[in-house]
Amino acid sequence: MAGARVKVAPSLLAADFARLGAATAEVEQAGADWLHLDVMDGRFVPNLTFGPPVIAALRPHTRLYFDVHLMVEAPLTLAEAYVAAGANAITIHAEACPHLHGALQTLRCLGVRAGVALNPATPLASLEEILTEVDLVLLMAVNPGFGGQRFIPGTLDKIRRCRALLDTAGSPAELSVDGGIGPDNVQAILQAGAQVVVAGTAVFGAPGGVAAGLERLRTAMGGAP
Ligand code: DX5
Ligand code: ZN
Repeated sequence: MAGARVKVAPSLLAADFARLGAATAEVEQAGADWLHLDVMDGRFVPNLTFGPPVIAALRPHTRLYFDVHLMVEAPLTLAEAYVAAGANAITIHAEACPHLHGALQTLRCLGVRAGVALNPATPLASLEEILTEVDLVLLMAVNPGFGGQRFIPGTLDKIRRCRALLDTAGSPAELSVDGGIGPDNVQAILQAGAQVVVAGTAVFGAPGGVAAGLERLRTAMGGAP
């Protein structure tokens, strides 16, 4: 596993949608590493969130790295719009992309880091033929669509196997985990080999506010770098 500091990526999905700018500023001030932006289209997942105009509106107000997670059908349709809105990494779902290899190449050509997300039911074998094209692997620890769900326990073993797959291939892709993460399980997730943890409810829903939520997560990481 790479020795870089573990990144915490608060998911704006759990913030108050009436004050997204303020919520972004709060997590930035509290020391978040990335901002995770969950885009849902009401088709790939049953829920709807926001798209390029909202992301573009936030961009001038923060220096946070924009980690855009597209839970949409045909994710390349608006790829250029997400890049123009200020995305730094764009993650697309393997299940939404029949031509995943080419789609990842297109993202890199657009100047962003190319991520691929796997649903809980999708085997790691989906990564094997595209490892050279991917900069970020996002393992879903819940079925996508909603925040506040429970972490699926079998994900820990999937993280370990994914870590081994990346290390064996010598892949520099970062391994991120998304869904149901909190102080009670974050250390196990890091020990399994995650380098980025996405957390919505544990940050924005934390008693005492986002700074307290982030602090609690960092403390629970214990000896993790
Ligand atoms: C689920 C989203 C996640 C989710 C994380 O579809 O991709 O990013 O918002 O939220 P929590 O931490 O509440 O599970
Ligand atoms: Zn997400």
